Amino acid sequence: MAILTILTVPDEALLKVSKEVTEFDERLHTLLDDMTETLLRTGDAGLAAPQVGRLIRVFIINTGREVHEFVNPEIVEKSKPKLGLEGCLSIPKKRPVSVNRFQRIKVRFQDRDGNYYEGELKGFPAICFQHEFDHLNGVLLPQE
Ligand code: CO
Repeated sequence: MAILTILTVPDEALLKVSKEVTEFDERLHTLLDDMTETLLRTGDAGLAAPQVGRLIRVFIINTGREVHEFVNPEIVEKSKPKLGLEGCLSIPKKRPVSVNRFQRIKVRFQDRDGNYYEGELKGFPAICFQHEFDHLNGVLLPQE
């Protein structure tokens, strides 16, 4: 495992749309392991592959109990949005900003081996999912 360098603004890679994962191979597994080690070191809640310079649709979320891996994630249903405060590892000097996020979402994703899952998220995991999902589309927190 290895600690990866987290890209920060104004790195162009953070503004790109990431590509779908088609190969669930050793290279993907190593990336996920390295991302997990990197995220745990920061103590933060989530990390997306483009933040470490890999433009593929992969992110991880640390719920505090365990790190969950999401490959080719999709949001298939949304509830009402609500404003909340968020920060981002790629925008280090910035104070948390207000963002509208859906309180409850239904999601579909694959694991590191390509198996499909569906589930419902609410509260903090739902917010993290939407934040990391934005990274896959090159969307960052609003810059004032
Ligand atoms: Co972020």
